[in-house]
Amino acid sequence: MTITIKTTPIEGQKPGTSGLRKKTRVFMQPNFLENFVQSIFTAIDGVAGKTFVVGGDGRFFNDSAIQVILRMAAAGGAARVIVGQGGLLSTPAASNLIRKREANGGLILSASHNPGGIDEDFGLKYNISNGGPAPEDVTARIFEATKTIENYATIEADDIALDALGETELAGMVVEIVDPVTDYAALMAELFDFDAIRKLFAGGFTLRFDAMHAVTGPYAHAILEQQLGAPKGTVLNGTPSPDFGKGHPDPNPIWAKPLMDLMMGVDAPDFGAASDGDGDRNMIVGKGCYVTPSDSLAVLAANAHMAPGYKDGLAGIARSMPTSGAADRVAAALGIEMFETPTGWKFFGNLLDAGRATICGEESAGTGSNHVREKDGLWAVLLWLNILAARNESVSDVMADHWARFGRNYYSRHDYEAIDSEVAASLMDDLRTVLPALPGEQAAALKIKKADEFAYDDPVDGSRSEGQGIRIWFEGGARVVFRLSGTGTSGATLRVYLEQAVDGPDGLTDSPADALLDVANAANALAGIQERTGRDAPDVIT
Ligand code: G6P
Ligand code: ZN
Repeated sequence: MTITIKTTPIEGQKPGTSGLRKKTRVFMQPNFLENFVQSIFTAIDGVAGKTFVVGGDGRFFNDSAIQVILRMAAAGGAARVIVGQGGLLSTPAASNLIRKREANGGLILSASHNPGGIDEDFGLKYNISNGGPAPEDVTARIFEATKTIENYATIEADDIALDALGETELAGMVVEIVDPVTDYAALMAELFDFDAIRKLFAGGFTLRFDAMHAVTGPYAHAILEQQLGAPKGTVLNGTPSPDFGKGHPDPNPIWAKPLMDLMMGVDAPDFGAASDGDGDRNMIVGKGCYVTPSDSLAVLAANAHMAPGYKDGLAGIARSMPTSGAADRVAAALGIEMFETPTGWKFFGNLLDAGRATICGEESAGTGSNHVREKDGLWAVLLWLNILAARNESVSDVMADHWARFGRNYYSRHDYEAIDSEVAASLMDDLRTVLPALPGEQAAALKIKKADEFAYDDPVDGSRSEGQGIRIWFEGGARVVFRLSGTGTSGATLRVYLEQAVDGPDGLTDSPADALLDVANAANALAGIQERTGRDAPDVIT
């Protein structure tokens, strides 16, 4: 039954920040998906006798890709593949299933927050048995395998019906179709005080959760509306569609603008939230009050003990390097460890496994904890709800109180998208060259204190990751970070992360744009962004 198909290496199969992401049509080219899947299998020493979890965010090509993976897993002798019904699994739900079912790993089909459709993006990533994204040694082996592949194995078989719950057999391999929501919802009910949140809604508290036509729709309908009693209509855009309703399922003020407009208007509900294509990102916004992801991490860490799952406190907090230092203030106040990792959730895996960090977060709208090994959008929303129920305060009151207690880190990220890759590389190279000479120099109105290129030494396994972004600190508490995105699919995306720390009690209520003006000007003076890219403004400001 197994057939071996000859193939040749296809260029450009190097996994990025989060798996392999390409234009959908690139993924649909003959052998492109098959080569990558076979390379994953090679990198993990084959699949014989192993169990995997497979699911995706429902974007265009999700189902066909799953059928390819199932046939190849069967050909490799896998014992069992657990698939979300309809091919759907949010990234955190997939992570949970890998852990709960003690699977050897999982294949998650998603390009996260990138648009979907035949002319948009597709992606595939491999997660290991702890439920988290494959670490760099595994992704390096996958990439090596893509460069030497000569053939792949598959079987001739009809498509499996992905809609029917239960077990079927595919050439000796069990395919088990499970409800994508059940296990995940059970985990959330263990972590959070569902009774308190139910009471909150029963008391008239109003929420709008924008699922952005992506995978969290079914999860949010089931948990927020059915289990927690939020009225119907609480979940917006709750039916997953292959092209996300032609939208861009990225929960930030630009792409979730309708929700932002609602929250800033006179009819704003008490709480607004959104999640991305595959359900791992989140946006949090109160009545007239947007909460930056960096601040959200800090608030969640400071208040997590109010939820049953974290009642014993936190072992430590971890954040990616470009994320603001707001969480550091909380860790210092709580007397717990704080970790600074490179961008990419995979870097949190070791810290979570070793019990050193309990809560992790990134400026890119990701927060999560040791309950799974991925960031988790709905988890963040539920923890916020649990905290609001426990404190009986509005989001803006919680924020004001937080800043008064810990100090504030004004923060914003400016993205220059799809710029010429060479222009981007030389901008970074030139910065790298001048770094040693920068301390003591002036950049626009600010004086440079320190400058370096971030490298991370993993305290658990001792591995070192270099070239993780250029950091420049200024006198007076400002910092800028320059980094090239590892998730884009066309050209390069330059990310400029701006931060201004203020200890208080004065200066806690400025507008972020005003508070960050000096550091934004300094960033431009240092990198010559406008002259080099020809752009006079960022494409996205978060
Ligand atoms: C994905 C990863 C995150 C990362 C984000 C931005 O969502 O899971 O860990 O922070 O992409 O990465 P980038 O390389 O584009 O800045
Ligand atoms: Zn995502």
